[in-house]
Amino acid sequence: MSGKIIAIGNLKGGTGKTTIAVNLCGALANGAGHPVALVDADQQASASAWLSQTGEAGLSYHVLPLDSTSSAQRWLRNIRDLAEENDYVLIDLPADLGPATQAAVASADLVVVPVTPSPLDFHAAAQVIKLLRGVREERSNGHPACLLVGSKVDRRTAVGQGIEIALKEFKEPVGPSVCQRAAFVSAAVRGGWVGAYAVESPARDEIAALAKRVKRAAA
Ligand SMILES: Nc1ncnc2c1ncn2[C@@H]1O[C@H](COP(=O)(O)OP(=O)(O)O)[C@@H](O)[C@H]1O
Ligand SMILES: [Mg+2]
Repeated sequence: MSGKIIAIGNLKGGTGKTTIAVNLCGALANGAGHPVALVDADQQASASAWLSQTGEAGLSYHVLPLDSTSSAQRWLRNIRDLAEENDYVLIDLPADLGPATQAAVASADLVVVPVTPSPLDFHAAAQVIKLLRGVREERSNGHPACLLVGSKVDRRTAVGQGIEIALKEFKEPVGPSVCQRAAFVSAAVRGGWVGAYAVESPARDEIAALAKRVKRAAA
């Protein structure tokens, strides 16, 4: 059986897509020894820049951007080949509705949408949800599933405290949030995921909880 394809996307930059993609990759791979591939589909290549800093993290990543000049079919074949070799293929998407987002949503089992507690993020999330609902109607299996995830959440603020309740308004499943934490920035500086060095930290616990929910949502 081939592995699950999980796209991480929102149409707004800076919502924590790459942070969640890299850390989820670490948590899914580390937890049960699953082979996991991270696909960097963003021209900005933040995920590969993050992981290329060190070979120690041992996270496998593939730089596969997709623009209108390249073949979406070939790109999808690459993704499906990776799914044959891995339990999970995570796709870190650019912040737009371009070819990579279209192709990923059309082929993913699950789309994880990181949303920060900001009205602009909510607006962008609504557009992703619209896209994936359109795709669901065309795909016979009802996929992709969706998981909305509060990202860069500051629990000291009212919007931060209420983010899960606010996300439920979209009528899609809501996962455990990821808070604004210095450990996530340090992980990027070190070139690994938080669990690789902050073994007992709230940041690691949040990602572990998210990974557990993601596994269920993609099953
Ligand atoms: N949970 C978090 N806590 C603290 N900083 C974060 C968190 N998530 C992301 N960041 C920071 O916010 C910025 C944008 O995050 P990034 O993951 O690159 O977003 P995107 O991929 O959506 O553009 C980066 O500087 C990153 O280090
Ligand atoms: Mg990014």
